[in-house]
Amino acid sequence: MKKLLLLGDIHANYPALDAIANYIRPERFDWIINTGDFTVYSTFPNETIQWFRERTRTICILGNTDRKILRILKGKKLKKPKKKEKRVMYFWTSETLLPKNIAYLKSLPEQTDLTAGDFRIGVFHGTRDDPDEELFPSAPESRFRQLARDSVYQVQIMGHSHVPYYKIVDGIHFINPGSVGRMFDGDPRASFATLKIASAKIAVEHFRIPYTVEDVVKGLKEQKLPNIYAKMFRVGEKLN
Ligand SMILES: [Fe+2]
Repeated sequence: MKKLLLLGDIHANYPALDAIANYIRPERFDWIINTGDFTVYSTFPNETIQWFRERTRTICILGNTDRKILRILKGKKLKKPKKKEKRVMYFWTSETLLPKNIAYLKSLPEQTDLTAGDFRIGVFHGTRDDPDEELFPSAPESRFRQLARDSVYQVQIMGHSHVPYYKIVDGIHFINPGSVGRMFDGDPRASFATLKIASAKIAVEHFRIPYTVEDVVKGLKEQKLPNIYAKMFRVGEKLN
């Protein structure tokens, strides 16, 4: 049997990642998957990236926030987001990242795949068609059907929507582990999932676990970053 730990949308929330690691013991897994968005909205981008760099058997891709950070570091203009308090978080992150962690981000693809048991698994930030597509579980069945059609992947693991779900449409398994570090559903606990595969058998389990949100709030205060994010982490809502 192969065991996969599914993480994503950590958003530099190292206290949440650390709580998950203490709870689930990542060394028990064959692979640790990260669907991207390592960075932005909390003050621990270096600790977060380092956690993956220090481990073997990790499979990571870039998310939209990571791509934006790399664009800023290349000297390109940040067109979106437009909101001032969001832009501050991007610029703070790009100034704070250590060179070895920037190099690591640069080395990552935008999507990837692997094989476990009888399953070919695709890993995407948005969807296989568009890394910026937010595929919510409430999306029309027809959209899932399109993504299932001609899919070389029997399992599609996605992030970006920050909503945990598991759906089987036309025999294709769609899994979103939710967001480790930036929840939008009013539950501030960290979200992740596990995937167990034995030959043709597949089992998905979602988890929500508490972490010390005040460690994140403290980091934001110390760096004099917008107050709205302290509230966002405390209540687990998007707010802007
Ligand atoms: Fe995200």
